Amino acid sequence: MPDITNTGIIDAISQQSAGVRLELEHVSKQYPGQNAPAVEDFSMDIRPGELIMFVGPSGCGKTTTMKMINRLIEPTAGSIRLDGKDVLSLNPNELRRHIGYVIQQIGLFPHRTIAENIATVPKMLGWSKARITERVDSLLRTVQLDPALFANRYPRQLSGGQQQRAGVARALAADPPVMLMDEPFGATDPITRERLQAEFLRLQAEIGKTIVFVTHDFEEAVRMGDRIAVLSERSRIEQFDTPANILAAPANDYVASFIGRGAAIKRLALVRVTDATLSPNILPGAGQVPSDATLRDALDMIVLTGAPSVTVVDPDGTPMGALDHAAISAVLGAEAATLGATAGQATLGQTAVGQTAVGQTAGAPASEAGSPA
Ligand SMILES: Nc1ncnc2c1ncn2[C@@H]1O[C@H](COP(=O)(O)OP(=O)(O)OP(=O)(O)O)[C@@H](O)[C@H]1O
Ligand SMILES: [Mg+2]
Repeated sequence: MPDITNTGIIDAISQQSAGVRLELEHVSKQYPGQNAPAVEDFSMDIRPGELIMFVGPSGCGKTTTMKMINRLIEPTAGSIRLDGKDVLSLNPNELRRHIGYVIQQIGLFPHRTIAENIATVPKMLGWSKARITERVDSLLRTVQLDPALFANRYPRQLSGGQQQRAGVARALAADPPVMLMDEPFGATDPITRERLQAEFLRLQAEIGKTIVFVTHDFEEAVRMGDRIAVLSERSRIEQFDTPANILAAPANDYVASFIGRGAAIKRLALVRVTDATLSPNILPGAGQVPSDATLRDALDMIVLTGAPSVTVVDPDGTPMGALDHAAISAVLGAEAATLGATAGQATLGQTAVGQTAVGQTAGAPASEAGSPA
């Protein structure tokens, strides 16, 4: 069979390093010698620049689904399109150079330095030495590894979290429009993990890649995802929606069991304190949270201090208003009523502020906010 290089098409796709559309249509994978398919009739349409989270139990087919996108595994049925082009018609080696991939076990090459690891794909793509050096340096800084300290070390001379950051840098090296990330932060402790998540979200806000991100951790999915796909056996999609919608209205018992207890508390983490009705009734001695804190942070502070409310302060430290239990609960009630309206939170904030100056009727605005303008 002649080698189909399609360099032109792949170059065109990778020109759009800011993220491209990714469509999977009726994709299945039957491993040889297995009774049941590992992935069955999987369809999903991912918009350019979206960060999609796959959440599901071990063995449900997440890695298999992901590896079919960059053709590390060939589908047995269905089609996958990248920026409208059928990936099955593209040369798989070339395709993979344009899809960043962070594998489940980090997978840095042990006998290559960190710099050499990161330079792998740019080298294959024939970049000049100078360009590669510059890129490696800037990526190391991006993932907060000082090039002077880390570029020439070997992977075993890095901590687990540092290795994962190097893995992310390597996947980003050739500025691919699509990133596949299979539990990229899995091997880190909770504190490092939270830092990596925050760093990655900040990075994604700048680079806007199309990303498929696998995790076992529902909280990570809520924190990171534009949309979450909750998967069961054979990669069956039980629900595919925004974190707020899934938390507010799980599609079935399976999804509910995945969310686990405390769905309301988890939803609070998605809403900023400034989206709630702030009361002018500031209590002396109450705890303080910054204006970019979430309602979960606010509730945390109330529980911690034992005070009836918490004070929201602007970046200069000037008090903006107070939040109590009732005002926090009101947001959840009202938010559920505006489900589906993308601008729900903003609408809610404005409506509620116009409603009552003080939070004394905090439960009431729910029905008002339920009819967005
Ligand atoms: N090469 C293979 N040959 C046969 N069966 C396989 C092969 N690779 C995976 N499987 C099976 O396919 C199913 C899906 O595997 P996959 O690796 O996609 O799961 P996963 O959702 O990524 O799991 P985990 O969360 O544990 O990484 C599993 O039942 C697995 O045993
Ligand atoms: Mg896996």
